[in-house]
Amino acid sequence: MSVSIRSMTIGDYDDVAALWHGAPGVGLSDADSRRGIAQFLERNPGLSLVAHDGDRLVGAVLCGHDGRRGVITHLAVEPARRREGIGRNLVERCIASVGALRIEKCHVFVFAENEEAITFWKEGGWHERVELRLLSRYTT
Ligand SMILES: CC(C)(COP(=O)(O)OP(=O)(O)OC[C@H]1O[C@@H](n2cnc3c(N)ncnc32)[C@H](O)[C@@H]1OP(=O)(O)O)[C@@H](O)C(=O)NCCC(=O)NCCS
Repeated sequence: MSVSIRSMTIGDYDDVAALWHGAPGVGLSDADSRRGIAQFLERNPGLSLVAHDGDRLVGAVLCGHDGRRGVITHLAVEPARRREGIGRNLVERCIASVGALRIEKCHVFVFAENEEAITFWKEGGWHERVELRLLSRYTT
């Protein structure tokens, strides 16, 4: 695997958005506009990652924290490059970076029907929080 991983910048936005749009398991909303992602990257410097093979984007993930818990979202690997360990590599780097900030735990949100992704996370040592349900509300 000749894949290099580095921190995401807003200059990666167009390629990353295209990757996400081709990955139905990634839920996209207004929060994923260029402005929204720029704000997320500024608030969580260095934590979100892109994987490239040469010039070609093959994987991406958003990673941040609220000061006490990490959160990983929008993990996607180019379909033709799956099962090469790119996703695992991205996640392990996220976990290491968040751990280095002395934050002990990360959460990830997965669509309930996304069984392949749930298998991926469980294989990586993540456990499902069956006691929790997610509730959301708009601020405006
Ligand atoms: C989920 C995803 C990111 C995994 O990326 P990946 O690079 O293919 O994953 P890896 O190669 O690192 O897989 C690590 C391990 O996870 C498990 N795994 C990964 N994909 C799997 C699948 N489709 N079915 C079963 N197990 C899977 C395997 O145990 C695998 O190890 P192995 O290949 O040695 O058996 C990728 O399938 C993807 O982009 N899916 C679409 C977007 C999505 O649903 N994202 C999740 C958002 S929460």
